[in-house]
Amino acid sequence: MRLAAFASGRGSNFEALLTARDRGNLPEAEFALLFSDKADARALDVARQRGIDTLHLSPKDFDTRAAYEEAILVVLREKQIEAICLAGYMRLVGDTLLEAYPRRILNIHPALLPSFPGLHGHRDALEYGVKISGCTVHFVDAGVDTGPIVVQRAVEVRDDDTEDILAARILLQEHEAYPEAVDLLTQGKLRVEDRRVIRLD
Ligand code: GRF
Repeated sequence: MRLAAFASGRGSNFEALLTARDRGNLPEAEFALLFSDKADARALDVARQRGIDTLHLSPKDFDTRAAYEEAILVVLREKQIEAICLAGYMRLVGDTLLEAYPRRILNIHPALLPSFPGLHGHRDALEYGVKISGCTVHFVDAGVDTGPIVVQRAVEVRDDDTEDILAARILLQEHEAYPEAVDLLTQGKLRVEDRRVIRLD
C-alpha cells in the first residue's frame, strides 16, 4: 500500500514508521511521500535524507481549505497514494481529503481518547490529574480526534511529571503503537463497524 505521511514538525513518529519498515515490520507499506504545511518542518529533512519525495504547500497561498486540499490531492493522485498517516500534522483535515480517503487516514494522538483531544493532550491530562494516560491511533473523521480507535497504549502518570517528561514517556509508546496500526491497515487486517475497529489478525 502506497502511503503519504503528513507532518508539521519534528517527525519522530514518521521516523519510527520508516524504522519499522526498514526492520521488516511493515511489509505491505511503502512511504512514497512526506507532505508538510510548514517549510521548516524537521520531518521534511528526515524524508530527504531517506530519499523519500517531499511536498510542501503553505495554506496561506490558498483562499480556502478545499482549494488547499485539492492541490495536495493532485499530488497524492499522481503518486498513487492509497492511505495517509498524520504524524504530528497540526491542521484539521477537511472534506476534500476525507472524501478522497474514506477510512484511509490515520492519526496519532498523545492521550487516551476520548479523553483529552485537541492540541494540549499532555497538559490537559496532567491538569485533570489522571493517573494513566497514553496514546491513541485512530481513523480520522470530521471531528477533532474523534474517529474510530485502532490501537491504544497506556502510560503511567507520575506525581512529579512535567508536561515534557510525560510527553517523552508517551512518545516511546507512540513509536510502537503507530507502526502496529499501520501494519494492520496495510495488511488489510482492520474492519470498521460503526465506531468499533475489529482486528482481523
Ligand atoms: C506527537 O506527540 C503526536 O502524538 C502528536 O504530535 C506529536 C508529533 O511528534 N499528534 P512527532 O512530530 O511525530 O515527533
